[in-house]
Parts: sequence; structure tokens; C-alpha cells
Amino acid sequence: MTQYLADPSAATAPESPGTPGRPGWWRDAVIYQVYPRSFADGNGDGMGDLQGVRARLPHLKALGVDAVWLSPFYASPQADAGYDVADYRAIDPMFGTLHDADAVIRDAHELGLRIIVDLVPNHCSDQHLWFRKALAEGPGSPLRARFHFRPGQGPDGELPPNDWESIFGGPAWTRTENPDGTPGEWYLHLFAAEQPDFNWDHPAVRDEFRSVLRFWLDLGVDGFRIDVAHGLVKAAGLPDLGRAGQLKLLGNDVLPFFDQDGVHAIYRSWRTVLEEYPGERIGVAEAWTPTTERTARYVRPDELHQAFNFHFLGAEWDAERLREVIDDSLDAMRPVGAPTTWVLSNHDVVRHTTRYADGDPARGLRRARAATLLMLALPGSAYLYQGEELGLPEVTDLPDGARQDPAFFRTSADGQTGQDGLRDGCRVPIPWAGTEAPYGFGPRAGGPSWLPQPESWAGLSVEAQTGRPGSTLELYREALTVRRAHPALGAGESVEWLAAPDGVLAFRRRAGGDGPDFVCTVNTTGEPVALAAPGRALLVSDGELPRGEGEVTQAPDTAVWWAV
Ligand code: NOJ
Repeated sequence: MTQYLADPSAATAPESPGTPGRPGWWRDAVIYQVYPRSFADGNGDGMGDLQGVRARLPHLKALGVDAVWLSPFYASPQADAGYDVADYRAIDPMFGTLHDADAVIRDAHELGLRIIVDLVPNHCSDQHLWFRKALAEGPGSPLRARFHFRPGQGPDGELPPNDWESIFGGPAWTRTENPDGTPGEWYLHLFAAEQPDFNWDHPAVRDEFRSVLRFWLDLGVDGFRIDVAHGLVKAAGLPDLGRAGQLKLLGNDVLPFFDQDGVHAIYRSWRTVLEEYPGERIGVAEAWTPTTERTARYVRPDELHQAFNFHFLGAEWDAERLREVIDDSLDAMRPVGAPTTWVLSNHDVVRHTTRYADGDPARGLRRARAATLLMLALPGSAYLYQGEELGLPEVTDLPDGARQDPAFFRTSADGQTGQDGLRDGCRVPIPWAGTEAPYGFGPRAGGPSWLPQPESWAGLSVEAQTGRPGSTLELYREALTVRRAHPALGAGESVEWLAAPDGVLAFRRRAGGDGPDFVCTVNTTGEPVALAAPGRALLVSDGELPRGEGEVTQAPDTAVWWAV
């Protein structure tokens, strides 16, 4: 049973995170990712929408997060679930209207929650006006210079201009048809063919995105999550890689289309835009880089504020590996003075409950809860992905006919392996209440949901878990309450590792002044371990709290928070 032993009155800090104007609010913010399609369906059409988000903001307030990141809700043909934007200043009718977006921002602010929106600058939709015109006007159209159009190789231009592969499988180029029906130039798309890459060497592209930033800042958003932040600039001349299987190199190697030094000038120019506005508006980079040092470049003082730590997300459940990644990340961020931004799940990866399961869902959930307590005890900011507070597992048996992820289609179409193709499994609409699907996701029992939910999710709904001692939801709420109140938690630059048995992580965080210190112990082994109690147990991820002074036993795959 999880219990909270700290003095609950201490939770009401006079200036809690989420209070507008708190300097450096983002350095230790807990930010909750809403995937609008799957969060809450206000109009009952089976697809989540902004009215749904608005109605459920109080859940996020009660959970205790500081800010909400909304995945794209812009006008889009939905070839990649909204990451194919046709109009950066309009809301897709399936999500609502600009008035709804404005209402979400206002309501969130009234609750003391900040709003971060997704910005997709690497590519747009093939239905974006610029691209449609570029195609219609044919070769030589000035609008083609805003994208990467090239003649093909081979006698008839029948081969792609270079050997780059799409992240979703297959070539990163698609051949166009000229207005007269003859085969034409090729255009670059690092993702789906419906997502042409912008040419960021073109001044009109740079101007347009500074203007888009201002459009949303004027509406009151508190920041931007920047999609494919590492991809905007391509190596000059678009050189071949010289090898196939490029997917396996992502995030491990230097590539001519990712993490080029030229991207940083763009973020410096965006920082000046963000600083025109009061209240520390932020940018968070989705940047997959080979090393944490390369990630740190995105958060130099004159660039963005945060960058997701995908090295932490990718680490397996192993004490040594986790400690290595944590040290490495903190060491990399210290010289640039930025917080580390921890994350365990998002809409692109298998949920951490399932990632850590090794075939045993109960073990996966135990480890996921422990991993979350580990993450929330580390210095810096942390992102949560909707549904992880309910301990939702990945849905691994979706019928192919229900799937919408372009990665699934492109990889199964060309028989490639290596891409998980399973991103729909973490995007299933979340359960709120009731015993019949869609479990409160939509307004009507028995109503639709765009992906089917497992029957077992009735027992995992917000309603089912609220007030249930030991539920994952209550664990998250308690953890966020303690984190907010404890003077040693939140921002910081380092942890102090303590001696611990093999397979156990133990670290101290110092409060400074005369506040209590804090210790987190994580048993990553499958066996109970005997530990010298470092203090008074505050919170345990699973099972009974270790009690007593002197030696205590910590259960397998658990984390414990201690007041020292
Ligand atoms: C990263 C986003 O998180 C993912 O969902 C999307 O498919 C790609 N970028 C392309 O925009």
C-alpha cells in the first residue's frame, strides 16, 4: 500500500510551481503530454478534441502537474496524426476551433497550468498551400525553393536524388508528376511522402516560422515543443550516406540530415522571439542526437530551454546502466546551465509499463512505477505521457484494420523490419470512468473511440483508481505532492550516489539550509534486498513501506523515497 507520511500541510507552498511569473519555472516543471486524439472526446465522434481537453483540465490540476503539452491540433489531413500540418494558424475541425484553443489556454491559466503547443517546423503537409502551389506551378516555380526539389538520377531521372531513407521506411524521396503529366522532379520527405521537408536555407521559411511563433505567443501559450528539432538543416549538397538500414543509425550516429550544426542559429533566433514576451515562454527540443553532449547544445543559454533526454528513455531496467545515463546527462547539462529533461513515455514509443515487462505485465507495472519515482526524484524537469498515471500498458493486439500510424503501413508495405510500427499501441484513448467502452473517453457509454480499448481498462480508469490506496494514479498524485513540497526535490545539478548493494541505486539530494535531505533507493533486481534505512520512508512505489530503523527490506523492482 502506498502511503504519504510527510506533513500534508507542507504541500501548499506559498509560491508553488505553476504560479505565473515564478522565475525559472521550467527548470523543475512536471509537464503532462496530452495527445488530443486520445485524451477526451467532447462531441462523441470517437476522436478526442479540444472541448474534451478543456473539460478534463481539472484532472491535470488534481494530478499536480505544472504544465500541459498538447500534441498537434492544427489543420491537417492526418497522414501522420497531425504531424503533417496544412495550416499552422488554424485548428483542424476534428479538434474544434481557434475559439476552443483560446478557451483551453485561458482555462488552464486560471487553474495555474501552463500550456505548451507542438510546433512542426521540419516538414508540413503535402496539402500546405506552398507545397500545393509548388507542385502545380511545375519545375522552376519559386515556391519549390522552399522545399527540397531535385531532378532524379539515372538516364530518365528515374532514381532518387540520393540514398536517404525515410524514418517511416522506404526512400526519403517521392517523384512528382509535371503539370503536363510527365514524370517530374523528386522532393525530400524524411517522414511520410505526405510530409515534404522545408528548406530552411530559404529566408521565407525562417520568416514564416518566426511569425507562427508570434501567432501562438500572442494567443498566450507558454512554450513550444519542437518536433524533429534536430532535422531542420541538411548537410550541404545532400550527400549520400553510402549505406542502407539507416534507421538503426538514428540517435547513434552523425547523419547528413540530422543534428547538423546549422540548426542552432535557428534556435538562437527563436530565443529572441520568445524573449519578446513576458513570463519565460519556453522551447523544448525533440532532438535525437548521438550523445548527451550533442543534446546539450540545444539548450545553451541563448537557444532553447529544454531537450528531451531520450538516452534515459532508452535505458533498460538495469541499475548500472541507469546510473551511467543519469550521470552522463547531468554532466552534459551542467556546463550549459540547463536542466535535464527526463521522460519515460510519449506517443512514439512503447509505454514504459510494457517496455520493462520482459513478458510479465505485473513486473512491467512494478518497474514502471519504480522508474517514475526514480525520474521524479532526479534534478530537473520531467514529462509524463497521458495514461502513464493510470499504469496503462501498450496495446499490442490492435487489429491491423484499426491502425493509423504511417510507420505501420510503410514498413509493412515494403517488408522492412527495424521500425516498431506499433505507435498506435500507445495512442489508444484513455479510460476515465464507467464499465463500458469508451470508459468515459466520449460522452456516451457504448459510443465510439478511434482505436478500440481493451476491456481490462475499465479497472484502470481515473474513476476506478481515484481514492484506491496503492493505485498507480494515487501513487502519481502522492509523488507529485511530495515533490512539490520537499525542499530537496526539483531543480538541481547533481545527485550524490550512496553505497548500495548490486542492482540497487541509492542517491541523496541535499536541501541546503536547514531543510531535510532526501534519499531515493531503487531495487532493480528481482529479489528483496536488505538495506540500512537512510531515514524515514515517505513513499514506496509498491507494497508495504519499509519500516523501522536500522536494516529494512526493499521489495524487488521498487523505489522508495526517504526523508533524511
Ligand atoms: C516526431 C513526432 O513525435 C512523431 O509522432 C512524428 O511522426 C514525427 N516527429 C514526424 O513529425
